[in-house]
Amino acid sequence: MAYSVSVSNQKGGTGKTTVAVNLAGALANRGNKVLLVDLDPQGYATESVGIPDAYDADGLTLHDVLLDLDKISRTDDLVREAPEFDVIPSNVALTSKNTETNLQNAQGGERRVGMALDNLSTDYDFIVIDCPPGLGALTDNALLATGRVLIPAETKGTSKRAVELLRDQIDSLEMLFPEASIQPVGVVANDVRQDGVSNEMIEWFDTVFGELVPVYELRKRVVLQRAQMAGRTIFEHDEECDMEGVFDDIAADLEGRAAE
Ligand SMILES: Nc1ncnc2c1ncn2[C@@H]1O[C@H](COP(=O)(O)OP(=O)(O)OP(=O)(O)O)[C@@H](O)[C@H]1O
Ligand SMILES: [Mg+2]
Repeated sequence: MAYSVSVSNQKGGTGKTTVAVNLAGALANRGNKVLLVDLDPQGYATESVGIPDAYDADGLTLHDVLLDLDKISRTDDLVREAPEFDVIPSNVALTSKNTETNLQNAQGGERRVGMALDNLSTDYDFIVIDCPPGLGALTDNALLATGRVLIPAETKGTSKRAVELLRDQIDSLEMLFPEASIQPVGVVANDVRQDGVSNEMIEWFDTVFGELVPVYELRKRVVLQRAQMAGRTIFEHDEECDMEGVFDDIAADLEGRAAE
């Protein structure tokens, strides 16, 4: 069975998409069969992996598969082959058809992503889900489907609240779904600078999540943005990026956890 992980933080712009896409790249670069799921109605991950056309494409969309139980077995039909790994793209229908609100009202609406992924016929080693900002039905679905979360967070005082809210959300989901267990597998302290605030934040992550969770330090690099605009991860982009090692470390740690 695939080892799956959600990349989530309710706060916008903390690096979820950057981390999800480049983690998928790192895992693929290490020889794994990887599926990236873009669960964000904004579709930035879909754009970042070079298949922007998929976002506007007609035909079966993620919305149809999640909301129509007659179509939930058709997950394979959503999968697109991007150069480095497979992708279930986001689609404009997630916005225009209001998938998030519809999931809230659907029977078993929190479990639809998990049900859809269970119907995949390809044997992936890893599934990485890029979550939207916010803690709505799509994020709940991702957390319940994967049971694991990687949290990109900025190293500023104001990002503490977002991480605490995610912690609370995980606690509520575990209360509402007693069979569910959602484990944090890491925090990616993004845009780390050499100053007191960053060091204090990194210590704080350690206390909130305990020894269980590694804290990775990602620095600000324009190459990350240029690779994204070129539709590739930094592993396939034609410029060197010294942050490859960070994503490779996360990938190696997940491989270790998957083998346990
Ligand atoms: N370490 C970094 N160095 C340089 N640019 C970065 C870094 N992390 C993120 N960015 C840039 O910051 C912007 C926001 O990042 P990203 O889209 O990954 O965040 P997000 O959490 O997915 O946002 P949203 O909440 O809107 O989904 C993007 O333009 C991205 O390229
Ligand atoms: Mg994003």
